Amino acid sequence: MAEYAAKTRYRSHEALSYDNNRTQSCLNRRRWQGELKTIDAIMSGLPSGLHVLDIPCGTGRFFPILAEHGCCIHGADISQDMIDCIPPSIVDRCPNISLSTADATNLRYPTGSFDYVLCMRFFNIVPDAVRTAALQEFFRVASKGVIIQVRFRGLMGPLLAFSNMTRRLFHMARALLSPETPSYAPRASSMRPSLKEFKLMATACGLDLVQICPIWWGITLSPMTVCLLRANHAGKGDRGK
Ligand SMILES: C[S@@+](CC[C@H](N)C(=O)[O-])C[C@H]1O[C@@H](n2cnc3c(N)ncnc32)[C@H](O)[C@@H]1O
Repeated sequence: MAEYAAKTRYRSHEALSYDNNRTQSCLNRRRWQGELKTIDAIMSGLPSGLHVLDIPCGTGRFFPILAEHGCCIHGADISQDMIDCIPPSIVDRCPNISLSTADATNLRYPTGSFDYVLCMRFFNIVPDAVRTAALQEFFRVASKGVIIQVRFRGLMGPLLAFSNMTRRLFHMARALLSPETPSYAPRASSMRPSLKEFKLMATACGLDLVQICPIWWGITLSPMTVCLLRANHAGKGDRGK
């Protein structure tokens, strides 16, 4: 499977400072809270007591919401450092929880082990091949569906291409001038799919888009959303592995 920055980025200091860095500014805090509210609203529309795989679970910020909805939670992430940063107070609030490291593109769980997969802040930071492999795995392990955060390209297509080009130049210049400062290459503009592209990808993986919930993200032409995908077993047939 392809190498990409997000696979190894969330370790040591990056893991330790993950929550703080993303809740320091007003804007980021509001976005963070918006995500929590959206997941709460989606879970309210689903039956309680579901088996949910939260991947990547990061520092476990969705666990309390899942627990409030009576879910049996399995949290998984490729980074053990992120899992180690889950506050014990969060784990203590969840009566039915287990944790492990896992690669979303190659899950060790048997087919149909969960009802739903919850996948937040992942789709838009990984390359296409990883998205497809992960969605195929989610379809295989989750019998009912997938709740996934997706930022769409919206009306930002041409602007994004330009902004990515300038950010890439900036990144190259910084790497040349100060090689010791960690710097992550900007993402390609294709990382934000159109709605049509996303639907096609999901359908090819056996998942039908049934609901799009917008998340408040400030003034933007690229809508941030959480999508509810339902497993279409009739359409996909054999779930492999
Ligand atoms: C931006 S964080 C999101 C964490 C959490 N979902 C949240 O919303 O706070 C991205 C996470 O993806 C994890 N990750 C990257 N590639 C992965 C993979 N192939 N399988 C599982 N986790 C992965 C990283 O370790 C990191 O914890």
